Amino acid sequence: MAFPGRYPTVRPRRNRTNAAVRALVAENALTPADLIWPLFVSDGMNKREPVPSMPGVDRLSVDLIVDAVKRAEDAGIPAIALFPYTDPILRDDAGSEAFNPDNLVCRATRAVREACPNIMIVCDVALDPYTSHGHDGLIVGGEIVNDETVESLIKQALVQAEAGCDTLAPSDMMDGRIGAIRAALDDVGRSDVRILAYAAKYASCFYGPFRDAVGSSTALIGDKRTYQMNPANSDEALREVALDIAEGADMLMVKPGMPYLDILQRVKSEFHLPTFAYQVSGEYSMLRTAFDLGYMDRDRGILETLMCFKRAGADAVLTYFALEAALMMNTR
Ligand code: PBG
Repeated sequence: MAFPGRYPTVRPRRNRTNAAVRALVAENALTPADLIWPLFVSDGMNKREPVPSMPGVDRLSVDLIVDAVKRAEDAGIPAIALFPYTDPILRDDAGSEAFNPDNLVCRATRAVREACPNIMIVCDVALDPYTSHGHDGLIVGGEIVNDETVESLIKQALVQAEAGCDTLAPSDMMDGRIGAIRAALDDVGRSDVRILAYAAKYASCFYGPFRDAVGSSTALIGDKRTYQMNPANSDEALREVALDIAEGADMLMVKPGMPYLDILQRVKSEFHLPTFAYQVSGEYSMLRTAFDLGYMDRDRGILETLMCFKRAGADAVLTYFALEAALMMNTR
């Protein structure tokens, strides 16, 4: 880039003097249409249970989920993501509740689809909310086995699509699952259902509060480092993404978010696919705690972090702040 001249002829501050010029020269914008709101579903009626490690986030029964989604839609949020808290008695080694067509996430999906026919519904494809051991895959001889897990993920994907989910989001990091799920959907005539691949998902401690929210943290034995990526790696993310695109991914996710903006930027600039970032539970809880303690300004903190995702190349951000952020944007 040519250097644009010299002080005192050149004074970059002239383009920052007031709100009008700052708005005019802004390179990125943030709107409610850039947000995806993750929601935790639990059993029951008219029930709201706080998630202790995520202040301000509740698990909601299906009826309250529907109300929440209507509010999101009214605020201009185009997509929600549903995560179930599965009753521990329904969890087993195989995670078989994942392919019960009447499981919690399927019931929630049907209810939301009925109430809000146009909203995008994202459902995770991974076994961890359903396994007694808290892993995303099946364990044989102490190992998380890949190909057998993919067979289960296919069954999970199909029941979720059948319930009305239009966007399946495999977050399990098994090899080959995107292609296998794509083929299975196409086989049953569901070429309309899209796949949002958690293509670059790291083995991160920032998922801690989420595991609390879905009740898999107490169950989890060991860690997920044999399938999720090493935080030390960046080229490997590009290989993962290339594979998922070749297998049929329509959209990509990079996760976690803020500590991984370099990965987001590389993925977007290399592949030019719709690319989303996940401001994960640990990021949410860290920020929320700082806001609640008065260490940082809440409104500016939320909007700044979300704008940073846009600047780094995100087309949208999955964030637990989505509704708050959208309401803020709408009143500005
Ligand atoms: C499940 C899944 C996880 C998250 C989304 N889907 C946790 C994990 O992989 O252990 C984390 C989201 C968050 O922390 O907000 N595979």
